[in-house]
Amino acid sequence: MNDLSSIQVVRGMHDFSGERVEQLARVELKARELFSLYAYQEIRTPHLESLYLFERALGETTDIVEKEMFALKDRGDRLLVLRPEGTAGIVRSYIENSLEKKSPISKFFYMGAMFRAERPQAGRLREFNQIGSEYFGNSAPSSDAETIQLACKLLETIGVETVQVQLNSIGCRECRPNYQEALLNFLLKFKDQLCKDCVKRLDRNPLRALDCKIDRDKLDAAPKSFDYLCFACKEHHLELEGFLKMIGLEYSMVPHLVRGLDYYNRTVFEIYPGGKTGSQDALAAGGRYDTLTQQLGGALVPAVGFAMGVERVLNLLEQTKSIESKIKKREGIFLIALGKEAFGKSFQTLNFLRSKGFKTNSILNLQSLKSQMRLADGLGTRFCLIIGEDEIKNDTVTLKDLEQKSQISFSSSMLLEHLTGIQ
Ligand code: HAM
Repeated sequence: MNDLSSIQVVRGMHDFSGERVEQLARVELKARELFSLYAYQEIRTPHLESLYLFERALGETTDIVEKEMFALKDRGDRLLVLRPEGTAGIVRSYIENSLEKKSPISKFFYMGAMFRAERPQAGRLREFNQIGSEYFGNSAPSSDAETIQLACKLLETIGVETVQVQLNSIGCRECRPNYQEALLNFLLKFKDQLCKDCVKRLDRNPLRALDCKIDRDKLDAAPKSFDYLCFACKEHHLELEGFLKMIGLEYSMVPHLVRGLDYYNRTVFEIYPGGKTGSQDALAAGGRYDTLTQQLGGALVPAVGFAMGVERVLNLLEQTKSIESKIKKREGIFLIALGKEAFGKSFQTLNFLRSKGFKTNSILNLQSLKSQMRLADGLGTRFCLIIGEDEIKNDTVTLKDLEQKSQISFSSSMLLEHLTGIQ
């Protein structure tokens, strides 16, 4: 039987409060500014989607669909899933709302929680936040370049100083079968050394072996997708490289990079922390998915996108201590009313300050000056505005600057003049 001590946060999930929630909000704010600069519009889709959507979009042989989905049945026995990623839901929404009829080009950004039942460990959570973009309607390699640059810029804007971009092309419906065949022939020679999952997937999707955490290292000599690209895919890739070079964006070609989701074609990329952080986890990743809209029942609309894992970035910034909010500045006003007689004037002053745009806090109860000061200090407040018996009698207020450690009293009518310019 459950007792109250078993009511805890679900394994692999985390609460955000204090500094961590402020960092999350700050990252989201910076992302919004950046997406607006690149002319992306926000899109929000539900956290629950049909199981079928992810089976169709991500592929039945992917780790996510095979073993990482939080699935449930609703009262009508429909199979639903807490979204493991954002792209599939956005493509569903794009088709369902006929967005391609509204504009041949649509650029969306999104942010929100995703859910994967992975084995919890550092950087691998069961609920995590992604910020990402999806660019529909443009098959030109410049849109791949824009997406990769946007992902790097987002990381840079938030404070990640150096990144490593890994890039590959996995071809298209025309040329990939040739590559898959070559890869399968190679893998069959090693069949007895492969993990159980990879052996099972050999016939259905040999590319998955390249993404397998267990077998990946054994496959150094495996054929490379780049050597099997058709003319159009090769040209697309070379043009993309040209764009990246033009803007001085450094990357390395990683010939066995395939990504863990099946919807990609042509460009795939992953972005890792630069320098010596030792992290094996990608901060952001994405690629092109030109046939997904069609696979999900819509028209054929080319698309490219990426998503960044917010917690992984916050953890990295924490490690490298470059997070701006580490040097947190004091801010705002804490209004201290001393005694019941001061409550009326204090409540009016509180509302006046807020109406003038000053961040103001107060508890208006009977706690002592000392305990209210301690509270204000603990909250990181810059000023305490004190209204007590003397202040009521003389129609004054007392302003204490907790940063400069100074204090002055002045007439209540001069409050705005005193606060303006020093906030
Ligand atoms: P993904 O590589 O599965 O791609 O996830 C993108 C990022 O989300 C990862 O690079 C990582 O930073 C973060 N992430 C993934 N799983 C976890 C986890 N369990 N815990 C913490 N962070 C995690 C996608 O999701 C694609 N939808 C990206 C995309 C958008 N492709 C095209 N458009």
